[in-house]
Amino acid sequence: MAEVKLTQVNKRYGNIHAVHDVDLTVADEEFVVLVGPSGCGKSTTLRMVAGLEEISGGTIDIGGRVVNDLPPRDRDIAMVFQNYALYQHMTVYDNLAFGLRNRKVPEADIRKEIDRAASILGIQPLMARKPKQLSGGQQQRVALGRCIVRNPAVFLFDEPLSNLDAKLRAQMRIELKELRTRVATTSIYVTHDQVEAMTLGDRIVVMKDGLVQQIGTPLELYRTPANRFVGSFLGSPAMNFVDVTVVQKNGGLVLSDFGADIVLPDAMAAALAGHVGKNVVIGLRPEHILMGEGSSEGTIRLDGSIVLTEQLGAQQLVELRVGERTVMAAGVDPDLRLQGGDAGRFSIALDRVHVFAAGDSGPVLWSAGKGQVTAPLRHVS
Ligand SMILES: Nc1ncnc2c1ncn2[C@@H]1O[C@H](COP(=O)(O)OP(=O)(O)OP(=O)(O)O)[C@@H](O)[C@H]1O
Ligand SMILES: [Mg+2]
Repeated sequence: MAEVKLTQVNKRYGNIHAVHDVDLTVADEEFVVLVGPSGCGKSTTLRMVAGLEEISGGTIDIGGRVVNDLPPRDRDIAMVFQNYALYQHMTVYDNLAFGLRNRKVPEADIRKEIDRAASILGIQPLMARKPKQLSGGQQQRVALGRCIVRNPAVFLFDEPLSNLDAKLRAQMRIELKELRTRVATTSIYVTHDQVEAMTLGDRIVVMKDGLVQQIGTPLELYRTPANRFVGSFLGSPAMNFVDVTVVQKNGGLVLSDFGADIVLPDAMAAALAGHVGKNVVIGLRPEHILMGEGSSEGTIRLDGSIVLTEQLGAQQLVELRVGERTVMAAGVDPDLRLQGGDAGRFSIALDRVHVFAAGDSGPVLWSAGKGQVTAPLRHVS
């Protein structure tokens, strides 16, 4: 059992600055997911923890011990990769035993460890098979088993499910989640799949261009993204973004123009006071755009038209046009008969609105996710 602590960790490959000043503490038995688009530095960060890449600056500490200069085998970690790298000519049993035999563990103890891991993973009937006689999911379980038998202080996972088809990936995700209840080991898990990140992580670290964008629980990141990038990365269908301008009007501030001007309540106006005359971006989750009037307090009402609908059975997705902008609404009653071209009124609860500074990674200027909003928003025509 161990805490993993990264302090100002950097990685440079020549003039490529792959990882910038990463600070992250993974608590003992915590499961932390590193997520972000391709090339953002997830694998590099993980490989530095593993000792497979040298660090260019900073400190990595595992279980209270600085491991910067320790080789991988002395770090008490076990790593599962995307390609499980099982030995094809060996049986499952011998694959599981391989690492322990290398460390001269007595065969009787090896058998005990393998029995334990096999029963945790439900792979007892597969012991005599070779990897190519296994399904993708079974191979993945064997690869996990190889880590479990070693009883490491830390598990490191690099996209372990990405070779599996969608159905198996969903199943293995549940198995990994169950595995955590049986083997509570400090874990760092890399993925570019936001659903895996949301469902598996105690906390999520969102990365972009080698920089940590935000660290928090799945719901914290979902509800109070620190910037537009985090807002856009988590959630499906994705957050809507609407460009507006902060304008002074009638002694107050309005956001102009999303259908009509949105008059800002005092707290929100105060948060945006430094942005008068500037472009900002409203962020709206699709599930927070409701068809119809909504409740009377704290609601933005918009009149627009329906562009198209996608019937998913449990819900409909509806693309709406307001003025020049289109936004996607989710969670619409599947029995509601809607057609492209129909006019529609819809509403957005004010306590669901985010406002970001302009730009792809514009920092959040206002987020009502924590309930700062007390006064209702109004529309003026
Ligand atoms: N050995 C290397 N030499 C030079 N540049 C590298 C090397 N390894 C990685 N990089 C660069 O470092 C950056 C981060 O790479 P990394 O593999 O950590 O990304 P990633 O987030 O894991 O992406 P993916 O989701 O595609 O696996 C990328 O720009 C990559 O091109
Ligand atoms: Mg990678």
